[in-house]
Amino acid sequence: MKIAVLPGDGIGPEIMTEALKVLKVLDLKLEFEQALVGGAAYDAVGEPLPANSLALARAADAVMFGAVGGPQYDTLPRAKRPEQAILGLRKELNLFANLRPAIVYEELADASTIRADVVAGLDLLILRELTGDVYFGQPRGTRTLENGEREGFDTMRYSESEVRRIAHAGFRAAMKRSRKLCSVDKANVLETSQFWRDVVIEVAKEYPQIELTHMYVDNAAMQLIRNPKQFDVMVTGNLFGDILSDEASMLTGSIGMLPSAALDDKSKGLYEPIHGSAPDIAGKGVANPLATILSAAMMLRYSLNQDAAADRIEAAVRKVLAGGYRCADIQQPGKRTIGTSAMGDAVVAALG
Ligand code: IPM
Ligand code: MG
Repeated sequence: MKIAVLPGDGIGPEIMTEALKVLKVLDLKLEFEQALVGGAAYDAVGEPLPANSLALARAADAVMFGAVGGPQYDTLPRAKRPEQAILGLRKELNLFANLRPAIVYEELADASTIRADVVAGLDLLILRELTGDVYFGQPRGTRTLENGEREGFDTMRYSESEVRRIAHAGFRAAMKRSRKLCSVDKANVLETSQFWRDVVIEVAKEYPQIELTHMYVDNAAMQLIRNPKQFDVMVTGNLFGDILSDEASMLTGSIGMLPSAALDDKSKGLYEPIHGSAPDIAGKGVANPLATILSAAMMLRYSLNQDAAADRIEAAVRKVLAGGYRCADIQQPGKRTIGTSAMGDAVVAALG
């Protein structure tokens, strides 16, 4: 099985090294091939997503992605910015279903800024649509109006087939869990959202076992803090999912803990931590590699049919946390704070 490895920028290469370290000791006959993306690719060849990196990702069975971006690239024209690498990969590979689980590990309930009794035991899945919405809608741009005033504009849009396929993914995910699905939209204001809601309700007829609810995104943002355990699977559009998944990550103590999978309709996937490139701590050896290591576990489960190996990694991460090891982002009194590479070693040691 061929894995495309795209470490990217900032802490990307450091955390990727640890995930590969863990994957390599599993002895699974995985072949890794690396390529440049993001600012690193721009610096080398002037493009954030060079053709050879895209071709490698296309040809692979799965893609491991680190993170992209950095302040030195923020003034580049949009087409050259590092973020185009991840947006381009999602679109080109048709990775429309983004699974973002937010799990509160027992040992980390105190690491959250939210009261431990509110978050303890949380196991939430945010399913974010990833290739549509205002992220990709055309037209977009800036223009000067007849009266001389400038304006910026984007287009929020969802086609029926886009909503249908992510709704199906949501219902199927709910079938495997507690059979509750909450669809999040802004149907009280947006046409796109009302259409989303109508289509989700149509698709729901095929899943009579599932209890479907709808929530406006502003309320959902509030309910996630007030009582996150009321949710099991949330399905939502690209923009709302981007925001809600960052919010949900903080329930778990740190964004440095959250893995993600972006899947096409054949379970090919791209796996990445949901945090960014963290340029402020890049190169210091302090970044938490657990989100990337847990992303590798998701890859084994969703794209490579290696459930047992995925379970082993996840159990090892739990063991390391129970053993009192922490990275700086989840530092707790009385626990041992270790660096990126030591955390990778600790997970390897805990694999058993
Ligand atoms: C994410 C990130 C990306 C997004 C950026 C880097 C383009 O925030 O994966 O959540 O907005 O989707
Ligand atoms: Mg985001």
